[in-house]
Amino acid sequence: MGIEKKKARYGRIIDQLSDLLTKTDNPDARMATIVTVLHHKFDYFFWTGFYFLQNGELTVKNYQGPLACQILEKDKGVCWAGINQKKTIAVPDVHHFPGHIACDSRSNSEIVVPVIDKKGVIVGILDVDSEKLNSFDEVDAANLETIVGMIFT
Ligand code: SME
Repeated sequence: MGIEKKKARYGRIIDQLSDLLTKTDNPDARMATIVTVLHHKFDYFFWTGFYFLQNGELTVKNYQGPLACQILEKDKGVCWAGINQKKTIAVPDVHHFPGHIACDSRSNSEIVVPVIDKKGVIVGILDVDSEKLNSFDEVDAANLETIVGMIFT
């Protein structure tokens, strides 16, 4: 997808979510809505979902796409890297990411965006996988950060 088309699509999604997310401030309802809208608006979003920290583990929350790992081994893979570094990470080729956890062998690139609650504490991570290499760029990163920032506002 071209960069301008992608920017415009994210703009429309953010407008749509700004309206949808006024209906409730429940974070679970908001995350379910975010996952569904994102997953169905971008054809390169092969797996779209959240992992949340629970008792020191990353446990899957709501998602769309093929069956995924329920628990991610601590300090391993892309999601844990995003949690531990407290930053968005885009991985152009997951096969070159040390410790990458392949929940589905069809995934080839990935982006993770930390979720921060109202107190500024990191509570989980948005994870999006693509079947294509190099799917995620700075436009995805900036817009997904904006969208994740809407969960706890
Ligand atoms: N690939 C992730 C695991 C989660 S799945 O992609 C849904 C990782 O390395 O953390």
